[in-house]
Amino acid sequence: MNKVFPLAVIAFAILAFATLMLVILPAAQIRTIDPPPGLEPYTAAEKRGRAHYVDLGCYYCHSQQPRSPSQAPDLQRGWGRATTPADYVYDDPHVLGTMRTGPDLMNVGKRMPSQGWHLTHLYQPRAIERSSIMPAYPFLFEVVDAPAEDDVVVPVPAEYAPENGGVIIATQAALDLTDYLLSLDRSYPPANTELRDLGFERGGDEG
Ligand code: HEC
Repeated sequence: MNKVFPLAVIAFAILAFATLMLVILPAAQIRTIDPPPGLEPYTAAEKRGRAHYVDLGCYYCHSQQPRSPSQAPDLQRGWGRATTPADYVYDDPHVLGTMRTGPDLMNVGKRMPSQGWHLTHLYQPRAIERSSIMPAYPFLFEVVDAPAEDDVVVPVPAEYAPENGGVIIATQAALDLTDYLLSLDRSYPPANTELRDLGFERGGDEG
């Protein structure tokens, strides 16, 4: 029983040390990072799209963290240079992701800059990539008999066209999500010189 007090002190010291090293110091370090010159803050629409990205669990299958050539051939895969902390200054919460069931999306806006492509792909991935295992998100779209002037019509192959006729139009959620995807472009040179010295710049000027 008389060992309880020293044990409690040691346990508290370990917890306090872990909190300092894993929470307080990293937070202080990140707070001092400036946005890189090539990165714009998200617009209102992109922010809404980002919230849908989180809600719909896109990050369960997609990472947003291309790795350095010493770790993975992400550059050859066309996913872009290794990211540095500055690339994430506007990301809250972060959506780094851990799984790569689908491709890394950190630079998908640069790689696939077509709004129409993304809308069709979200409506039905298999309309574009026959063997895709990505879920379809038809609830982000509506079927109408005749589109209004400012509706964005989504073209799909005949086999995925609405059964009872009509055309598919994108909802605001689909448009916002697509805006967010198109904003994903970290192809500017990495900002953090410290990391550049570590060899992180390789492929920085790719694409
Ligand atoms: C069950 C896993 C899974 C989920 C969940 C998922 N995807 Fe995918 N995604 C994939 C796979 C696999 C591919 C590659 C095949 C294809 O292009 O459809 C892919 C491809 C993509 C691509 C094309 C990337 C490229 O380089 O070809 C985009 C963009 C994309 N997904 C966006 C999304 C968005 C946005 C969401 C959430 C609304 C989402 N994905 C949810 C598995 C997933």
